[in-house]
Amino acid sequence: MNRIEMEEIFQNIDLTVEAPTEEPQRQYYFMKKAKEMLKDQEEKLGRKLTACAVTFGCQMNAKDSEKLIGILEIIGYEMIEDEAADLVFFNTCTVRDNANQRVYGRLGVLNSMKKKNPAKKIALCGCMMQEPTVVEKIKKSYSFVDLIFGTHNIYKFAELLVTMFESDRMVIDLWKDTDKIVEDLPAERKFAFKSGVNIMFGCNNFCSYCIVPYVRGRERSRNPKDIIREIEQLVSEGVVEVMLLGQNVNSYGKNLEEPMSFAQLLQEVEKIEGLERIRFMTSHPKDLSDELIQVMKNSKKICRHLHLPLQAGSTRILEKMNRRYTKEQYVALAKKIRQEIPDIALTTDIIVGFPGETMEDVEETISVIKEVQYDNAFTFIYSKRTGTPAAAMENQVPEEVVKEGFDKVLKVVQETARERVQRLQGQTLSALVEEMNEQDASLVTGRLSNNTIVHFPGDASLIGKIVDVKLTECHGFYYVGELVK
Ligand code: SAH
Ligand code: SF4
Ligand code: F3S
Repeated sequence: MNRIEMEEIFQNIDLTVEAPTEEPQRQYYFMKKAKEMLKDQEEKLGRKLTACAVTFGCQMNAKDSEKLIGILEIIGYEMIEDEAADLVFFNTCTVRDNANQRVYGRLGVLNSMKKKNPAKKIALCGCMMQEPTVVEKIKKSYSFVDLIFGTHNIYKFAELLVTMFESDRMVIDLWKDTDKIVEDLPAERKFAFKSGVNIMFGCNNFCSYCIVPYVRGRERSRNPKDIIREIEQLVSEGVVEVMLLGQNVNSYGKNLEEPMSFAQLLQEVEKIEGLERIRFMTSHPKDLSDELIQVMKNSKKICRHLHLPLQAGSTRILEKMNRRYTKEQYVALAKKIRQEIPDIALTTDIIVGFPGETMEDVEETISVIKEVQYDNAFTFIYSKRTGTPAAAMENQVPEEVVKEGFDKVLKVVQETARERVQRLQGQTLSALVEEMNEQDASLVTGRLSNNTIVHFPGDASLIGKIVDVKLTECHGFYYVGELVK
């Protein structure tokens, strides 16, 4: 749904009758209503109203924010990147405690801005809001917040805004879970040439440290027809690369009326003409099939990159984490993938400091890193999430021990990643040009199929194009190169 299509839809909506009950028609009704309310406010104030989106967390949240921004733009807000805007929303993350702390810190600043601009509205949404203790705290200590909603009802943003405009109290709408997927809503894209595409929502894995299943609900797959239709639409608008999004894409399709595997979905996506690159995030090792490896191997479009979270290298800890694979199974899987697809980049997530983890366990993690030779790895310090089984485990690891293990892991990760990246020296590979280089205006920044970044001389006309680049200088984790004509 773009702006012109929405205008056409709006022409047939009668705001003097009650809102329809079916979706997405109900939301179209409220978008039109919010738009008119905004126009009135703008006339009263004698200026345009602005909005600012602040997104924390993962790709899933980034995609949700694009949907929320799409709705705000249809309603008539001018999007700016300044928290002094008339409407600010924080799309929050709660996967680790430091994400939560950042939100509280920034809310304090918003409050003082609100005192200067009484028209200012503050909305909070996303994963953190799915936690009842967080909402209690906001009600008590941050009562200036105007709207709170969660992860399951973002499609109703227009309706919630109308309620907020009509109310002088904090509006709260939170759902525990949902089985609903609402299609055909507007969305704004951050990049013209690449886009995330949700293929599933929620997670059923309940890794013992992780809050995501509690805040994102049970696993639901989108209908393949809707996914394909969305990607075809994106391609017709100039998108050449899609990132298929899900907490565990390898279990895609299991709960569909006509079950379909992730590998089968990828084959359907591959057929879309004009689409050049396919990425996906994230793969759980326990569900990664041989079928998927073969589909990747034979594909011309699926990028040579697989993010395969390890979390820990010790089988004892993996069991306590409820990851459902052993160290040996993981290493065998990684080896099989490297053997079948030699040019693939493998990246991972690692947690250090899970309850009961000893230095010997950390050494097991290090041995996996050395064996698999990751191209990149995100290393996290374990963060206790209230309500998860791991939070109730005794033997939480003291901070200094965690720090020691973390530094050790990080050092090995950086060494192996450097080595892997260096191997590309001198090769000519295709890169999708994503943006102008931030530091040097004579350079553009591109991304290789294997996710490595390369900077090379070029101008804005290259953005969104896939070009051949010779990798001339390795600078640790990225390259400087030159365009090959
Ligand atoms: N669904 C994805 C991960 C989503 S969360 C998967 O299973 O791979 C992203 C990463 O955050 C996880 O891979 C994990 O490494 C990290 N993470 C999750 N919970 C955490 C916690 N309580 N403390 C520290 N890191 C955590
Ligand atoms: Fe969390 Fe595990 Fe689900 Fe990933 S698979 S979101 S780590 S519970
Ligand atoms: Fe954070 Fe929610 Fe993603 S908790 S990591 S934003 S799914």
